[in-house]
Amino acid sequence: MDNRPIGVFDSGLGGLTAVRELRRILPGEAIVYFGDTGRVPYGTRGRDIIIQYARQDIAFLLSKNVKYIIAACGTVSSTYPAEEAAALPVPYSGVVQAAAQAAAAATRNGRVGVIGTPATIRSGSYETRLRALCPGVQIFKRACPMFVPLVENGYVNDGNPVARLLIEEYLTDIRAAGVDTLILGCTHYPLLKKMIGEFVGDGVRLIDPGRITADVLKDTLAETGLAAGPRPQGGQAQYYVSDTAEGFQASADLFLGEYRGGTCEQIAIDKY
Ligand code: DGL
Repeated sequence: MDNRPIGVFDSGLGGLTAVRELRRILPGEAIVYFGDTGRVPYGTRGRDIIIQYARQDIAFLLSKNVKYIIAACGTVSSTYPAEEAAALPVPYSGVVQAAAQAAAAATRNGRVGVIGTPATIRSGSYETRLRALCPGVQIFKRACPMFVPLVENGYVNDGNPVARLLIEEYLTDIRAAGVDTLILGCTHYPLLKKMIGEFVGDGVRLIDPGRITADVLKDTLAETGLAAGPRPQGGQAQYYVSDTAEGFQASADLFLGEYRGGTCEQIAIDKY
């Protein structure tokens, strides 16, 4: 048993969609979340900057004595070098592998859509893994750079006309390609899941990487002896951001579904 917290980070608030699933699936685990709200978005930046930011985010979480690190960010998961991740003092996982596995298992017609930030799509991360898991798979991909600012600014209410317009702009070709599975390859996108689902149709299975990663983590913690001991009150969550913490609760509500308490503090990420 290990009662240290799980460290989770993202470029902003999108990773909270993964925290929501972790809180649901692993209610006894404590969580330290870092959202780099002062430097979001990552997905439109170059590789070197994304790696530098990820290193600082990880160093901050390590300073909080975490037992496991999750990059709840498709962009970091697609960019942070695997050899560097393997050398960290605690286990690390991104969201790409688990989501690719879920998509490979879900597709019946071998036609899979992948949407993500420009950095994620450019990296080919989902594609590489999908091809390894599912030879012959046909992949239809599209970068959706406007989805992150849309979500960070709360334009996610059902039927929001701006969201609808962008969904149509980005997803028309993917829908026309006849995919039966669509990877929402960025942790911000589950906030648009309902509207995306309505646009692509019921027959398309939407893969939420944060959710799948939380499922996989549950098994990993149990298998490696890292699961927390019994906590009848549930694990605590602590939130850190690099921009002002003001208004965090209102935004966190949106991403977490239900804000389950936990303090939020602003930190100077440049120091890490
Ligand atoms: N949430 C991040 C991801 O999953 C992207 C947001 C950004 O561009 O910073 O890729």
